[in-house]
Amino acid sequence: MDFEFQNPTRLIFGAGVLSRLGEVARGEGRRALLVTGGGSVKRNGVFARAVASLEEAGVAVVAFDGVEPNPRLSSVIRGARLAQAQQCDLVIALGGGSVMDAAKVMAAVVFYDGDPWEMMVHSPTGIRLPTRALPIITVPTLAATGSEMNKGAVITNEQTVEKSFVLADCLYPRVALVDPALTLTVPPDQTAFGVCDLITHVTEGYFNGVDGTPVQDRFAEGVILTAMEWGPKAVEDGQDLEARAQVQWASVVALNGWVQAGAGVAGFPVHMIEHTISAIHDVAHGAGLAVVNPAWMRAAARVRPDRFAQFARRVFGLESSDPLVCAMEGVVRFEDFLTRIGCPTRLSHLGLDGTLIERYARETLQAIHDETGRLPGRPAMSEAELIELLREAQ
Ligand code: NZQ
Ligand code: ZN
Repeated sequence: MDFEFQNPTRLIFGAGVLSRLGEVARGEGRRALLVTGGGSVKRNGVFARAVASLEEAGVAVVAFDGVEPNPRLSSVIRGARLAQAQQCDLVIALGGGSVMDAAKVMAAVVFYDGDPWEMMVHSPTGIRLPTRALPIITVPTLAATGSEMNKGAVITNEQTVEKSFVLADCLYPRVALVDPALTLTVPPDQTAFGVCDLITHVTEGYFNGVDGTPVQDRFAEGVILTAMEWGPKAVEDGQDLEARAQVQWASVVALNGWVQAGAGVAGFPVHMIEHTISAIHDVAHGAGLAVVNPAWMRAAARVRPDRFAQFARRVFGLESSDPLVCAMEGVVRFEDFLTRIGCPTRLSHLGLDGTLIERYARETLQAIHDETGRLPGRPAMSEAELIELLREAQ
């Protein structure tokens, strides 16, 4: 399909590039709000190295720590108020997707009048996108979300128990400093969840896009095959820098817009369902996706067997004269892969008994639906269809 594309984020990729943080930050500001999570970067020494690099370059540091996985709106507001009080002119995110998303929204809240939840797709009073933000530098310590090089952020409103997202041009980081050596300490489970997340970013585009997109299909298959080859190595041996680097590059590409450009992607339905589940139960995003994606794929494959058969053929080398048989076998193989790297693939694996399935379906559709009341995707799905697919994921 016709499209326009621009990703303005400057990407610096390589083991050891953390040492360039000061020099890079100096080009963007003089007083940085340095945002971190629950302490991993303090325990592994990355925080101290980042601060040293910044101070050496003459950039003052105002630290804000404690951003939760599935970051809370209240933390975002506190961070933004600190940035204002301390007159920060730059925001640096040093952490996983949660830290990056929180930091991106903090940078915008600094200039935003009114309730920051109005930036979000879930805003009950209509969306008011932010148009201005402090310069943002992202330094991911976990390969998963692609937040380091995109204009999205996902935030949880703990008061309304909703997880929502904002997409705004001012949230593109100025610079993404992507150092795969920072991911060496990510534990095996989070590594596997990250692999599932990055693959799901690509499958969402692949299965919810239009047909007739050969370049995008090959991009997507390349990212998936790479993640399936190198992901298990990173899970098995966290110190394997080569594997960490391949997985991290795959995660950047998976959601910086290249793979989905021009594909006419109708929606990210697996993400929308997962966001409802993680808003309620606070599960890790990639783990929730590993449960929802195979179940969604089974339902969608019945409607688009040829597309799923192409996936099965090109990713898993499967052949069958019956596209639906081939398609379904491809989903089984995909689910087997997720299991092999240690992801949950059933609600029960997340400790959930399925009693809230109807609520997941209802609240997902309350958050986002097309003019027929269905969840956008190819196919768009009704509440009854969502309930049915979630029952299959029990
Ligand atoms: O908080 P700390 O102590 O840093 O520990 C984190 C956290 O417990 C830990 N961790 C991160 N880097 C580490 C590390 N532990 C050891 N060594 C390291 N180097 O990992 C745990 C999970 O971190 P988190 O940031 O929550 O994970 P992830 O990167 O998967 O981010 C998930 C969040 O991103 C959102 C999700 O919904 C979720 O809120 N997403 C953001 C997107 C975007 N902005 O484009 C798209 C995604 O689809 C996703 O929805
Ligand atoms: Zn995701």
